[in-house]
Amino acid sequence: MDDRVPQGVGRRPVAEVWPVTDDGDLVERARFDEIADWYDAWVGDAPGVICEQDPRLLPEGLAGQRVLDMACGQGRLSRELARRGATVVGVDLSPRLIAKARAAETADPLGIHYTVADITRPARWWDGRPFDGLVCEMALMDIGDLDGTLAAVSRTGRSGAWFIASLVHPCCPGSEKGLSSWPPEEGYGAQGWWTSPAHNPDGARIRVGSYHRTLSTYLNAITKAGLRLERAVEPPAPVPTLLVLECRRA
Ligand SMILES: C[S@@+](CC[C@H](N)C(=O)[O-])C[C@H]1O[C@@H](n2cnc3c(N)ncnc32)[C@H](O)[C@@H]1O
Repeated sequence: MDDRVPQGVGRRPVAEVWPVTDDGDLVERARFDEIADWYDAWVGDAPGVICEQDPRLLPEGLAGQRVLDMACGQGRLSRELARRGATVVGVDLSPRLIAKARAAETADPLGIHYTVADITRPARWWDGRPFDGLVCEMALMDIGDLDGTLAAVSRTGRSGAWFIASLVHPCCPGSEKGLSSWPPEEGYGAQGWWTSPAHNPDGARIRVGSYHRTLSTYLNAITKAGLRLERAVEPPAPVPTLLVLECRRA
């Protein structure tokens, strides 16, 4: 076994990761709460992969569009969408990141509404008004319930709504400085949450781990949720480290 990789990588029992709340709900642990200050300083106000990798990914005119930023973190992409004219709702599990998003909104109001909630449970955060577009910037590999996330896209997006997600490429190494997107000694097929002290020391994965899923798991989940994949983008690199998926709700 590779001695850089600790015991316990790969799958972990769900109960360790998803504590039960007072009302009997299973809620995913807000891992980013513990690193909120670091994460906020790390990403800053750069809008992220969706905006940076291909300017044509987001629709040109966002004025008048109601857009959901799923797992919005401290709101960097929410702010960019609002600056482009969208009416934005941001939802994230981490109270500390949402506090930072709200502080930025107070300092420079853009009309963004932020909620602390599990994105997979629209009944907890959705007001029933459908979204024209939805984004999920670098978060699918942080959310335990992929089907629930995509079901939330279908439930809260209007007919024909666009959905764009960026994620760590599930097939290829995450960084030449760190490990691949999947537990190396278990292989590509070992789906589940994992972490390793040998990840890129400058990045998020060494701090919070991630859920590895195969590419077919992502593609099949998109179809199962009633979404159509319209375009995939792999930013140019010797080995692609990122993947952007552009979909449309039926
Ligand atoms: C890598 S961060 C990305 C944050 C933001 N989209 C950005 O680009 O800065 C992943 C985010 O997913 C959030 N998250 C994880 N599980 C979630 C869930 N079930 N519901 C809502 N947010 C979740 C985390 O709290 C964290 O803010």
